[in-house]
Amino acid sequence: MEKLWSKTKIGKMELPHRLSMAPMTRSRAQEDGTPGEEASLYYAQRASMGLIITEGVQPSDDGQGYLWSPWIYTEKHIEGWRKVTDAVHKADGYMYIQLMHAGRMSHPDNTPSSTTRSTFPHRARCRNVYCYRHAGYPRTT
Ligand SMILES: Cc1cc2nc3c(=O)[nH]c(=O)nc-3n(C[C@H](O)[C@H](O)[C@H](O)COP(=O)(O)O)c2cc1C
Repeated sequence: MEKLWSKTKIGKMELPHRLSMAPMTRSRAQEDGTPGEEASLYYAQRASMGLIITEGVQPSDDGQGYLWSPWIYTEKHIEGWRKVTDAVHKADGYMYIQLMHAGRMSHPDNTPSSTTRSTFPHRARCRNVYCYRHAGYPRTT
């Protein structure tokens, strides 16, 4: 246990301990996928974890799996994330982004282009996946 709290170095990162924050979907992005002030506050408050891996972030508009999860493929998204990382760096934390394309589990009701894309040729057969729409009710078909 003592080792867990000892300092360590990964690449250029000098970390205060050997714990890090696992990615967790927060569903708090703005409607256009930009992380807002809530995201800066949320991640800066957790900077003492030393190393934070962000929630899954969509790298393109056909990869969204959950409503309100953040994106990173426009200048505005990048600017939003820059504010988040600035806040975390100011609080002495490091941050890596988790890119998450939901592939064939993306849902056209969630993606801005209403399209999904997969490298896999077959449709996903899954009965228990619900898509929560902006109005707040799940669509089950
Ligand atoms: C609310 C919530 C959201 C999560 N979102 C992500 C995510 O965006 N990306 C990911 O790789 N894992 C995600 N996870 C998994 C966690 O990162 C972590 O691996 C997992 O919770 C730890 O395993 P355990 O819950 O079985 O102890 C999420 C977990 C929770 C509880």
